[in-house]
Amino acid sequence: MLNCRGAPNVLKSLTPYYLQLKNQGTRLVNNDGPLRACHDKTIEGSIYVHWPYCAKRCSYCNFNKYIPKSLDHVDHERMIKALNTEVRTLIHLSGLEKVKSVFFGGGTPSLMRPKDVKSFLNEITLLLDVDSAQFEVTLEANPNDIREKLELFQECGVNRVSLGVQALVDQDLKQLNRDHSAEEGLHALAQCLQALPNSTSCDLIFGRPLQTLQSWILELETILQYGLKHISLYQLTVERGTPLWKDINNGVISIPNDDSMADLYDEAIRIMAQAGLERYEISNFAVPGYESIHNSLYWSGGEYLGIGPGAHGRFRIRNHDNEARSVRACDQMAGIVSNVAAQSSRGGELQARVQTLEPEPWMREVEVLSHGTRKIQRVSDEDQRAMVLTTTLRTRSGLTCEVANQIQLALDDIWNQPSCVDLYELGLISRDDLGIKLTSKGLSLADSVLPIILNALEP
Ligand SMILES: C[S@@+](CC[C@H](N)C(=O)[O-])C[C@H]1O[C@@H](n2cnc3c(N)ncnc32)[C@H](O)[C@@H]1O
Ligand code: SF4
Repeated sequence: MLNCRGAPNVLKSLTPYYLQLKNQGTRLVNNDGPLRACHDKTIEGSIYVHWPYCAKRCSYCNFNKYIPKSLDHVDHERMIKALNTEVRTLIHLSGLEKVKSVFFGGGTPSLMRPKDVKSFLNEITLLLDVDSAQFEVTLEANPNDIREKLELFQECGVNRVSLGVQALVDQDLKQLNRDHSAEEGLHALAQCLQALPNSTSCDLIFGRPLQTLQSWILELETILQYGLKHISLYQLTVERGTPLWKDINNGVISIPNDDSMADLYDEAIRIMAQAGLERYEISNFAVPGYESIHNSLYWSGGEYLGIGPGAHGRFRIRNHDNEARSVRACDQMAGIVSNVAAQSSRGGELQARVQTLEPEPWMREVEVLSHGTRKIQRVSDEDQRAMVLTTTLRTRSGLTCEVANQIQLALDDIWNQPSCVDLYELGLISRDDLGIKLTSKGLSLADSVLPIILNALEP
């Protein structure tokens, strides 16, 4: 699957590969023990916020989302209180000192009340440093609810929108069970671009049932006329149990075969490049300089907190739970929290955490424990290396020497493996002074190439 929407699902999808790397004794760049954070550096990271509600269930979607009887049934007051409580707790646990980006994802976060977005951002800026000139705050939005609220969201701190246009063919939008037409999608896009000309992105899905190359080209050419600087193109993934999956299984509809999918993707790369949008990750295209800060941090192995029902996070634990509970006991502890963080070790165990999935139990847990973490998995140095290797190699810049040093991975250990020599001879990987990367051809075949590179790391 070409779809790699940020890191939350990366851990799950990598398990088979990175488990193979456990205890393999990969040579470290510096032979001075386990990975350590640099002592004189500010601890910085990003925050992902999951808003779990949607107005309607799209036929292809298996994200963690809930459709209330009506939107009036959402207890906004309770949700924002819980989001604010949980972020305080996880900031404390992680010892995070500076936040580079916040991503409101979902579900449909454009259904949030703008004042709650503001309240959340206030909460974190009380506790963390922010470089306001570079602070990226993205909101995932559905066309029909952003139009009325865009200005308000901007006033409340949102400075980037990722709009779910998905398709420009009404019949396809119906089949996907979207609640907007192509015209409404384009209207919303024009409005977002007027307000945020340099930081509006949109999502399109390709490989839809019965989609032809000709109609896809027309969609891409149409959307590019709007002058976007960033676009995400996701290959349709048929997720088990979804209505789309059932229809395909019952033979009601079919999706393009692998060759046709590859043609749709190759054509997209060509059209994007013609319009000046480079593929900087398998599913993401941008005019150079307009790449998403948030996604780039995920891919380079940065730390991020996952807040809200079902959110995934990956960060080091620098303080402990009992201290976290005391944070909850006193709401106004901003100063104390940062002092504790400053005293604590900059290292700490790296953990992958998943919050409780369903909104109601998640809120209850947050109300009692001050966080709703359901699953904690220790991420070993080997796991982290495998994850960073995989995510960076899906990007245009690949695994740079700088990132390789941070994860203490010797580039020679990858490059000199016989299977990597083969990949080089096939024109799928390359190396220069900056690091190792997949070639354009390699990126298009990344799902086949990456497991070979990961296996090559085995002793
Ligand atoms: C979970 S959605 C949330 C955004 C918003 N609710 C929306 O639907 O526009 C994020 C993006 O993931 C992509 N996506 C979700 N399910 C997908 C699937 N089964 N195959 C490909 N892309 C998918 C869509 O392009 C979508 O815009
Ligand atoms: S695609 Fe977006 S709007 Fe549709 S169900 Fe999934 S999260 Fe909700």
